[in-house]
Amino acid sequence: MELKTINIPKDFILGAAASAWQTEGWSGKKETQDSYLDLWYKNNKNVWHNGYGPAVATDFKNRYKEDIGYMKEIGLTHYRTSINWSRFLIDYENAVVDEEYASYMDDVIKELIRNGVEPMIALEHYEVPAVLFEEYGGWGSKHVVDLFVKYAEKVFERYGDRVKNWFTFNEPIVVQTRVYLDAIRYPFEQNTKKWMQWNFNKGLATARIVKLFKEMELKEKYGAKIGVILNPEVAYARSSAEHDQKAASMFDLFFNRVFLDPAIKGEYPQELFALMDKHDIMFDASEEELQMIKENTVDYVGLNIYFPYRVKARSTAWNEETPFHPEYYYEKFDLPGKKMNPHRGWEIYPHTMYDIAIRMKEEYGNIEWFIAENGMGVENEYRFKNEEQIIQDDYRIEFISEHLKWLLKGIEDGSNCKGYMLWAFTDNVSPMNAFKNRYGLVEINLEDNRNRALKKSAYWYKQVIETKQFEAQDDDLYK
Ligand code: BG6
Repeated sequence: MELKTINIPKDFILGAAASAWQTEGWSGKKETQDSYLDLWYKNNKNVWHNGYGPAVATDFKNRYKEDIGYMKEIGLTHYRTSINWSRFLIDYENAVVDEEYASYMDDVIKELIRNGVEPMIALEHYEVPAVLFEEYGGWGSKHVVDLFVKYAEKVFERYGDRVKNWFTFNEPIVVQTRVYLDAIRYPFEQNTKKWMQWNFNKGLATARIVKLFKEMELKEKYGAKIGVILNPEVAYARSSAEHDQKAASMFDLFFNRVFLDPAIKGEYPQELFALMDKHDIMFDASEEELQMIKENTVDYVGLNIYFPYRVKARSTAWNEETPFHPEYYYEKFDLPGKKMNPHRGWEIYPHTMYDIAIRMKEEYGNIEWFIAENGMGVENEYRFKNEEQIIQDDYRIEFISEHLKWLLKGIEDGSNCKGYMLWAFTDNVSPMNAFKNRYGLVEINLEDNRNRALKKSAYWYKQVIETKQFEAQDDDLYK
C-alpha cells in the first residue's frame, strides 16, 4: 500500500505517559506507605511476570533527571504521570504530608518545566493506600472519598501554581473490575454490588475534586484545568441485528457511560438505574451526592484507547447461581481475521480512534479531550536490535501512525481533540505482566542496570514533533 503524508495541526500536543507506581520504585518508601498495587504484588508475586513488580520499577525516583533529559532529547512537550497518594502522605486520616516524597515531586515538576515539558498529573493511578483498602474496603467507602479530597487539597496547595493539567483518576473503572467483577486480582472476591459502589464513589470523588478545584480558584489564578482520564472500550456489535446491537449498547452502558456520563453530563443514564434495580446492584447515593455530580462536571477528558471491544448477543444461558455480571447481556465476539497484537492479546483496529472522536463530538457536547494513552506492548524486543544496539520497532511506528491518522481524521471532521499521549515514555511495569510487554520510546535494559536507550520510534517521534508531519498508509477508508 502507498504511503501518504499526513499533516498535524500546529497546536496539537504530542507527548508521552506513565504513572507513579509503574516507574518510581520503592526507594524511600515507608513500611506503612503501600498502595493497593503493592499489596497485591506482595500477596500474589507468583502471578507477576518473572517476579518483577513495583519494587524497583524503572527507578525513576532516583533517575528522573536522566529521564527528563531523554524527554528533552525526544522533544516531548508534555509528560503525563501521577502523584502516588500512598506515598505523598504519612497519615491519610489527617493528610499529613511526607516531606521527603513531596520535595521529590516538587523537584520532578521543576525539572520538567525547566526542560520545557508540561507536567500532566493524575491524583490516582490505582495508588489508593493499602491501609485504606484493608481498613475501609478502599473506594467502596465514602470515608475514603473524604480522605481523597483532603489529599487533593494538599497536592493543589503544593503544586497548583505550576501544574496546569490535572486529573482526578486514571482509568477509575479498572481496579474494581478486575477485583470485584472478574475476580482475577487480589483479594479475588466476586461482588457486583461492591463494583458498582466503587464506580459511584469514584464518580463522586471526581465531582468533589472539581468543586474543590473551583473553590481554590486554580483556573482563575493559574489557568489550570481539571479532568478525568477514562478508558472507554469502544463496543462494536457483531451484526446490525437488533439483538447484537443491544448487546453492544449494554456493554457500553455498564463499562463506558457509567463514567463518561456523570463526568461530562453530570448525570447517570436513566437506563442504568433501571438495570441496577433489576439486578440488585444499586449503588448507595444520596440526593445531595447526585446534585454534587450534576453541578461539578469536568473541564476536559483524557481517553485511553488501545483496542476495540467486539460483542454479540448471548448464545448460551446465563448461570443464575452466579452474581450478576454485565455479561448477562452479551458475549465476547471473536472477529474472524482480525489483526492482533499477539503479545498483549489485543486487537489492532486504528479506526477506533475515529469512532471515539466522532462520539465525543456528537454525544458529549464536543467537550475538549485528548488521547491520554495509546500504544503497543511487545515482548522480547531485544531481538529487534540492530548493530548499533538500537531497537528497530517499526511495528510501533506503524501502530502510532495508523492510530494518529484516524484520530486526525476525527479532528478534521470536527472533534475537539487536542493531543495524543503515547503509552509509554519508557518501558515500565504493567500490572501483572510487569516488564513482559515493552511499550516505551525508551528501552529499559533490565540486564544492564536498567540503563536507558532510545528506540527507533523515539527518533521517529522526535521528527514527527519537529515537523508536524508523518507518513501513513493511504487507504481508501481515509478518503
Ligand atoms: C492502561 C493503564 O490501561 O494501559 C496503564 O493506564 C497500563 O497503567 C497500560 O500499563 C497498558 O496495559 P498493560 O496491562 O499492558 O500494562
